[in-house]
Amino acid sequence: MSPDANQSRDRENSLAFTELPDLRLEYSGSARLERIEPDDYCLEHHCKILVSDPRDDGAELDVGELDVIHAQFGLAVNNGVSWIDVLDAHSEGASEYCSLLENNSTWKDDVGDVGNLDLLILERCIVRPEFRGHGLGLLAAKCAIDAFGESCGVVAVIPFPLEFAGFEDPNWVPPAGVSAENKKQAFSAAKTKLEMYWSRLGLTPYNERIWILLTAHVSPSAAEIFRGLQAPVATQVPPPRRTRHRHGSGWKRDTQR
Ligand SMILES: CC(C)(COP(=O)(O)OP(=O)(O)OC[C@H]1O[C@@H](n2cnc3c(N)ncnc32)[C@H](O)[C@@H]1OP(=O)(O)O)[C@@H](O)C(=O)NCCC(=O)NCCS
Repeated sequence: MSPDANQSRDRENSLAFTELPDLRLEYSGSARLERIEPDDYCLEHHCKILVSDPRDDGAELDVGELDVIHAQFGLAVNNGVSWIDVLDAHSEGASEYCSLLENNSTWKDDVGDVGNLDLLILERCIVRPEFRGHGLGLLAAKCAIDAFGESCGVVAVIPFPLEFAGFEDPNWVPPAGVSAENKKQAFSAAKTKLEMYWSRLGLTPYNERIWILLTAHVSPSAAEIFRGLQAPVATQVPPPRRTRHRHGSGWKRDTQR
């Protein structure tokens, strides 16, 4: 390793936050004036996660990325478009959340009294390895919920360790320490870790795959999330609220992402 690379590694290793990180999201996305396709009711926000460097006044670190989908069900329903169609038309990833809306019912039927109709999906969250361990992904998600969740009654995420995406594909490259023999156990352990991680944001299991936060309920503030990061994490997953599945579930489905 070059001296420069060593220096940058040491610098990143020394990163520590004694107070709530000064984090912001820089995002891009687009919206159509005329909603022609059901997919047009899904607004995507691609966010860069930026954090002020606590060691260097004025410097900002580009620590990762967060993609969210704001499904504008309220507007879609007003225009006679079905909620399921909105998700189905968007992407395979978004269509997985259809199990939140069985039989084209309403949030009220399926989830409870949520107030607002829209759905905010935390679609993809990545913090660069050198910046992990500070809960910056959680704080970025909190920032996104505050920024884009105003009209959303429900925030949802599928806790899924990305290194296991498509693991049944023969070309899948297992992460370090994982083999064909232990991949199911390794996946399950990683998934549980991520579930516990998202629970710090106030998300709870809706079914075996999807975790949700009802925005009408009290959820931790950014400062509380940050303080919680200093405390030990729970290790047991609470039981899901319900177990219905529109598309089926289980290991096979888990690996198709
Ligand atoms: C998920 C992520 C954004 C969180 O970043 P962060 O806020 O810095 O938090 P951490 O990296 O400390 O992760 C929290 C815990 O989850 C674990 N974890 C996070 N992603 C994991 C993954 N893909 N596989 C296995 N474990 C994972 C971490 O090891 C850590 O466990 P620990 O508390 O025992 O140390 C970051 O770990 C990441 O980019 N992971 C890879 C991408 C990914 O799988 N994203 C899926 C999000 S659903």
